[in-house]
Amino acid sequence: MSKCKIEITNTGEQLEVNENVELSKQLNATNSPILFGCRTGICATCLVVVEEGIENCNDATDDEKELLEIVSEDTNARLGCLLKCHGNLKLKYIGK
Ligand code: FES
Repeated sequence: MSKCKIEITNTGEQLEVNENVELSKQLNATNSPILFGCRTGICATCLVVVEEGIENCNDATDDEKELLEIVSEDTNARLGCLLKCHGNLKLKYIGK
């Protein structure tokens, strides 16, 4: 399985993840710079903005888009828990 590099730009943290696997399925409390709550696209604890590499992300589902419209005005905002990548990304973590 190929790996992708992710840089969290506001903390400087870097990680390597498997491509095409949701971040919430490969990151846990000990290795994740992104906090997760529900891990199912409901709470927005994991909200990120894709600063580079939006073309390397899976498309948001209709349900994800609906929540993103409520919690962010940034068109590159995504829920980290549902995010899958197939290339390198730079993310700004804005959820809490
Ligand atoms: S962890 Fe709840 S929406 Fe991602």
